[in-house]
Amino acid sequence: MTTAPAAGRGERAPQLAGQTVVVIGGSAGIGLETARKARAEGADVVLTGRDPGRLQAAAQDVGAASTAAFDATDADGLERFFAASAAPIDHVMVTAGGPYYAPLAEMDLARARRHVEEHVGLVLGVARLSIGRVRAGGSLLFVGGTGGRRTGIGMSVIRTMTAALPALVANLALEVAPIRVNLVAPGFVDTPLSATLLGDGLDERREQLRATLPIGRVVGPEDVAALAVHLMANTALTGATYDVDGGQQLL
Ligand SMILES: NC(=O)c1ccc[n+]([C@@H]2O[C@H](COP(=O)([O-])OP(=O)(O)OC[C@H]3O[C@@H](n4cnc5c(N)ncnc54)[C@H](OP(=O)(O)O)[C@@H]3O)[C@@H](O)[C@H]2O)c1
Repeated sequence: MTTAPAAGRGERAPQLAGQTVVVIGGSAGIGLETARKARAEGADVVLTGRDPGRLQAAAQDVGAASTAAFDATDADGLERFFAASAAPIDHVMVTAGGPYYAPLAEMDLARARRHVEEHVGLVLGVARLSIGRVRAGGSLLFVGGTGGRRTGIGMSVIRTMTAALPALVANLALEVAPIRVNLVAPGFVDTPLSATLLGDGLDERREQLRATLPIGRVVGPEDVAALAVHLMANTALTGATYDVDGGQQLL
């Protein structure tokens, strides 16, 4: 681990100075903002995503050290990426993926099966590939959510994943120690994914959240990024789930 330069009086040392942060799903939304924040805290960042054009633009935007375009749910692609990565890595954040909402009656069962398999497989795959590549005391960070804690028509798959991820992350924290493993659980976050999911309803949803959330504002990707960087830097934290939803689950 590289030691951060000593800070002067009143200055704060950058939290991730000299460290390498890999963001799998780093070309937009929460991953991109985490990469930006990690850079601001002195880290080198490696970004991945599927769309090479979007990835290049993001890399330029944040000054990434390198990029790799591949589908993270492809186990072979994931393995090739880790095998080609220059060790040691300090932190890996995985934001790739999205939810599958569908009422049971309309559910595409093959897609539902694939979704669960790919999601759990991605977490397990990253954890196993990190052994020997991520330094001791470094961290893995995955993304769950708080919205899927409630029951509802169309929520079966997301609710299952929401319940499974904290359990999986806690167990992996034992399996890959001394690498740390944590989960962030956002509610609504104002990202390109939310814009796609909500379409014309986006502004109305933002307005509703501003009016009802205890924090009186919409959670942005920079809010999740701040938590993510803290989880990377604070070496006391492992095996736990951290909610960042502005109180949305209390409503
Ligand atoms: N936004 C929310 O309200 C919210 C709430 C709770 C949880 N989450 C979860 O947080 C994560 C990030 O969400 P976000 O809102 O930041 O999404 P986003 O704005 O769509 O960004 C997702 C990023 O991941 C990449 N990506 C997606 N699928 C990938 C794959 N299979 N392989 C490699 N890269 C992939 C995307 O680039 P390419 O498309 O080019 O691959 C993009 O860089 C997701 O897992 C989401 O379910 C989001």
